Amino acid sequence: MAGRLTGKIAVVTGGSRGIGQEIARRLASEGADIAVADVDPADETRTLVEETGRRFFSDKVDISDEDAIHGFAVRVRDELGPVDILVNNAAVVLLADFDHVTYDEWRRTFAVNVDGPFLTSKAFLPHLKESGSGRIINITSSSYWTAPPPFVSYISAKGALNGFTSVLAAGLGAHNITVNGVAAGLVRTAAAVENTDESFFAQAVQGQNIKRVQMPSDVSGAVAFLASDDAAFITGQLIVTDGGSTRR
Ligand SMILES: NC(=O)c1ccc[n+]([C@@H]2O[C@H](COP(=O)([O-])OP(=O)(O)OC[C@H]3O[C@@H](n4cnc5c(N)ncnc54)[C@H](O)[C@@H]3O)[C@@H](O)[C@H]2O)c1
Repeated sequence: MAGRLTGKIAVVTGGSRGIGQEIARRLASEGADIAVADVDPADETRTLVEETGRRFFSDKVDISDEDAIHGFAVRVRDELGPVDILVNNAAVVLLADFDHVTYDEWRRTFAVNVDGPFLTSKAFLPHLKESGSGRIINITSSSYWTAPPPFVSYISAKGALNGFTSVLAAGLGAHNITVNGVAAGLVRTAAAVENTDESFFAQAVQGQNIKRVQMPSDVSGAVAFLASDDAAFITGQLIVTDGGSTRR
């Protein structure tokens, strides 16, 4: 059976590890060719994607560098073709509460987590218009509603990304491009383990309705849905994958 994304081309920023790597693998398993932009090499992701039989391209790119991301968009078109699906996943977490966070840390967080999706979306807009059914999927965080003080710059940036998602959906609908966010609760990745401790995971599970730790595949399932034709009429929304810890 053909996958839901057969014939599509997807870009995943920050796809060399963690949630981005799993999104790249999942979209490939549903039929999409994959391009990854990351500051780190994406050899492991290449293996996972090529195992599915799909094409793969990656480059070392800092998404907060306008020239670099525009050059990447040109190379992706040359290597794979025009992109249908853009997943803005790359982000940094610089932990410090408001008393201690430096202006440089605040600005670096916004440069990667907000300017990055802005610049990447701009660079790939011509591709997405050409697609005729483009998708932008921003990876945000359900800790927007719950995070403790040390996440001040990270959560403020995710709030900006939520706003960007909403207003971009309004602007790009005329091109049949949908723009949505996946707001994930705590996910077990190397980054989450580095930035927290085991008690954080236990506490998260306690507050969830679903009593297990979230894995990257819980996020990639929502992304694959939003990328597919099944979600053609969904735009300007946040899908929350957090086991029900932020019920509405
Ligand atoms: N892990 C969690 O608990 C969790 C929860 C909610 C949301 N998220 C979000 O999910 C996404 C992925 O998180 P993760 O846990 O997999 O993190 P991670 O640190 O494992 O992965 C982030 C990736 O982005 C890349 N990256 C960082 N800065 C970059 C830059 N300037 N240019 C290009 N690439 C860059 C890193 O090299 C890395 O490969 C992030 O947007 C994060 O905010 C994570």
